[in-house]
Amino acid sequence: MDFLELCEKRYSCRNYLEKEVEKEKIEKCLEAARLAPSAVNAQPWRFIVIDDPELKKKVANETFDKLASFNKFSLKAQMLVVIVNENPVITSFLGRFAQGRDFSLIDSGIVASHFCLKATEEGLGTCILGYFNENNIKKILKIPRKKSISLIITVGYPADSPRKKIRKSIETLRKYNVYL
Ligand SMILES: Cc1cc2nc3c(=O)[nH]c(=O)nc-3n(C[C@H](O)[C@H](O)[C@H](O)COP(=O)(O)O)c2cc1C
Repeated sequence: MDFLELCEKRYSCRNYLEKEVEKEKIEKCLEAARLAPSAVNAQPWRFIVIDDPELKKKVANETFDKLASFNKFSLKAQMLVVIVNENPVITSFLGRFAQGRDFSLIDSGIVASHFCLKATEEGLGTCILGYFNENNIKKILKIPRKKSISLIITVGYPADSPRKKIRKSIETLRKYNVYL
């Protein structure tokens, strides 16, 4: 598959088959993630792959609540990958100090994207979740207090097909040389 086709094919999958995901496929997605770029090469991430059904249910239950139930589909995913945002190393701390931006969150987005694109190539469906009860999940997974969870990715074999993408036109998005 050519890279643009892969980008077209990746979509947020919210319907999964009851079909086990092969460990080798997850390992390939993690390798794609491991190779992702990060500010000052800090690689400020750890990945917790949750494939134990009981644990998965516990964590999935913390991605929705009465007010916001849109992530309830995570219960149907075969696996969850929790991206832990490690304490910034001194270099990325300095970058943040100099630039006033938290690069580690930008890095998390890039790493999640690598993971999801590779998963698409492997025939898997994924959805990145930004909404979840971070404190409860940290307790469940014994994540140290000083670390945070940036994103969670649901993974499984899709029970639906890619939707047509709703995106702004390139004319709206692209400018050469100057903003206006
Ligand atoms: C940082 C981030 C957080 C997201 N959080 C959620 C979420 O909590 N629940 C959800 O269903 N989708 C979530 N999404 C998926 C977006 O809704 C989705 O990417 C967007 O609507 C475009 O659709 P597509 O991924 O199918 O192309 C998130 C995506 C990103 C990048």
